[in-house]
Amino acid sequence: MALHEAKNMNTMPSFEKSPASFSFLNSLQKESYHRDGYLVLPQFINETICRLLIDRANMLIANFDASSIKVIFSTQDRRHTKNQYFLESGDKIHFFLEENAVNAQGELNTDKLYSINKIGHALHDVDPVFNCFSRMHKIACLIHDLAIADPLLVQSMYICKQPFMGGEVNCHQDNTFLYVKEQPITGLWFALEDANRENGCLWAIPGGHRIPLKSRMLRDKHHQICYETYDHTPWPLEEMVPLEVSRGSAIVLHGLLPHMSKQNLSSRSRHAYTLHVMSGQHEYAADNWLQRPADMPFRGFW
Ligand code: FE2
Repeated sequence: MALHEAKNMNTMPSFEKSPASFSFLNSLQKESYHRDGYLVLPQFINETICRLLIDRANMLIANFDASSIKVIFSTQDRRHTKNQYFLESGDKIHFFLEENAVNAQGELNTDKLYSINKIGHALHDVDPVFNCFSRMHKIACLIHDLAIADPLLVQSMYICKQPFMGGEVNCHQDNTFLYVKEQPITGLWFALEDANRENGCLWAIPGGHRIPLKSRMLRDKHHQICYETYDHTPWPLEEMVPLEVSRGSAIVLHGLLPHMSKQNLSSRSRHAYTLHVMSGQHEYAADNWLQRPADMPFRGFW
C-alpha cells in the first residue's frame, strides 16, 4: 500500500497543534488503567489499517538483504555482534531473527518472511507509513488522556511472533529497558492479528504496576549491555492473566506492569506493533541502551 493511500484513510492523522480539545478515554477507562496497570481498547484501529501495516512490514522484510546479518548471527563471537547490532538500532530499522531461524553457519532454515522475530527500533521515525500511523491524532489523544505531557515517541517495534517458532518473551517491566524515573515509560501494543493463548498473546499481572522496578538493562561506558538487579524475588506468575484480543485492539501498558508472552506453537502468526512514549518533561536516562545521535532526537506527535 502506498503512502498516499495511508494518508487518505479516515483515521490517519490530522496534525492539530494540540489534542487537548478531544477526550478519548472515559472516566471508567482511566480508573481501570490506574487500578490494573493496563487497559484494553477493542477496535482501536480498523482492519484496513491492520492490513496496511502488515503489508508494509512484509515489504520491508522482502527488501531487506538477509545476507547482511548472516555475519552477525553466524560468527563465533555471536553474542558480541548481536549486541552491537541491537545497540545500533535506536535510530534505525534493524531486523532481528527468531532464535531457531538460523543454522550453525548462519543460514536461514526457512523463508526470510518467517524468520524475523521483530523489526526495531525507530520505525516510527524512519519509515513513512509507520511514522504516519504512529502519529495519528487518535493516538495523540490517547496519550494526552494518560496525562503524558509533552510526549516523545521513544521506541517502536514490529513483532511477528511467527507460527510454530515465535519465541517466548519472559516476564518483565518495560521501564527495565527504557528507564524514566519520574513517570515510567508507557507502552502501546496494537494487535494487527487476533492474539490468544494459542498464538502467544500478552499476559499481565493486574495491579502489578505497584511492584517497584526489579532491574535495569543499561549501556555501560564501554557501550556494552549490562544489568542491575534490585529485587531477586520471583514474579508472582500465578497471578498472570491472558490478554486475549481481536485484531485492531490496542493495549496500554504501564511501564512498571509485569507482562510476558509465551511461545507461539500454533500455525497462526501474531503480528503486533508497539510504541513506547515518555513525557518530555522528564529525564530519559543517559545510560539507557537506546540512545539517539544529536541530530536525531526523540520527536513528539507533530
Ligand atoms: Fe514489554
